Amino acid sequence: MNSRIPFLDLVAPHLELEDELVAVFRNALKTASFVGGATVEAFEADFAQFCCTRYCVGVNSGTDALRFALSATGVRPGDIVVTVPTTFIATTEAISQVGAIPEFVDIDEHTYNMHPGKLHDYLETQCTTDTSTGRIVSRRSGRPVTGIIPVHLYGQMADMDPIMELAERYRLIVIEDACQAHGAEYFSRKQGRWMKAGSIGRAAAFSFYPGKNLGACGEAGAVTTNDAALAAKIKMIRDHGQVKKYYHDVEGYNGRLDSIQAGILRVKLGHLTKWNFQRRDHAAEYRRLFTAASCGVNPPYEPSSTKPVYHLYVVRVRDREGMMDHLQQAGISTGIHYPIPLHLQKAYWALKHRAGDFPVTEMVTPEILSLPMFPQLTAEQQARVVGEIRNFVLSKTKKVGTGAVSVV
Ligand SMILES: Cc1ncc(COP(=O)(O)O)c(C=O)c1O
Repeated sequence: MNSRIPFLDLVAPHLELEDELVAVFRNALKTASFVGGATVEAFEADFAQFCCTRYCVGVNSGTDALRFALSATGVRPGDIVVTVPTTFIATTEAISQVGAIPEFVDIDEHTYNMHPGKLHDYLETQCTTDTSTGRIVSRRSGRPVTGIIPVHLYGQMADMDPIMELAERYRLIVIEDACQAHGAEYFSRKQGRWMKAGSIGRAAAFSFYPGKNLGACGEAGAVTTNDAALAAKIKMIRDHGQVKKYYHDVEGYNGRLDSIQAGILRVKLGHLTKWNFQRRDHAAEYRRLFTAASCGVNPPYEPSSTKPVYHLYVVRVRDREGMMDHLQQAGISTGIHYPIPLHLQKAYWALKHRAGDFPVTEMVTPEILSLPMFPQLTAEQQARVVGEIRNFVLSKTKKVGTGAVSVV
């Protein structure tokens, strides 16, 4: 009897690092240093170095990181921030929660990331210039467009060069949503070098939710930036708007990173490069297996300008529900990221979008399927996953008879 293949194994890395992780708790108990302090600062320095940025500010979650980055960079209530409909709702929650309004542009069919050409079209055709301020205004809402949040979805970076170029031309703030992309890289033709996720925009948000490539044992997040003043402002916002205890320059939040999570993240950060390599190796193995199986399922597209870290390994299949059921019965867990695009979520009915507004998003959404992907995944497990996918495809092809219609 085959054992189950989990979608994600959160236990193995914790058992592997148990002694070091328990030492973090012991140290926190002994010193009673729970909020802020040396451990948080040490993690911030290490993570900034990992991301090739000058600053990192630890916060309570990826959502906080987005919220604080938006408000610290000057996004104001009533502004428009442009993003994609294919992301976790936290991206748009953060926009709404600073009082701004999300507007969407469609994605690239192959990378699932923001399509720079569509961003260009949006800025050119759906916006107009306010002659009194020289800033652009959305025709849809009549509001000023001030920011862009490209999301590095599934661990692959968005095509940042043209996005940054448009941002410069239209004077827009770019906040990278790097919550799924710790350690991902992008080759910038403009800079002539590989650049890490989180080091390109004015600021970037990371989530350390437990299932992320770098995950805490609870909630945690961080903002990275090269701007000292911005980092200082975010430090203030995360701590009730104070620089000195009980002297509040502005209203802020209780959004600090606690020192137990910082200590845990510091231990795990030492293994992140290895874990990311393992994920990339597994992606290469899946590619090899899918090519050999020739069952019509294509591995994810990897442009030569990106080094993805495969937070998720996503393929497209037409009969997704049938495939998921088959895999579930074969003891293989899968996921969908995400089943409903944001513009069609009930939470955004007020934005008055309709089916058909973002055709590429709507075409891929019913087909995307996330397969097991985690550093400890074995070659045998991967062979079983692809073998079962092939079995399902063959069984469906047989059922439809001589017409041999592929289900994928
Ligand atoms: C793309 C994206 N943005 C934002 C977030 C929010 O992060 P958190 O859950 O740490 O608030 C996540 C987390 O799942 C995410 O995947």
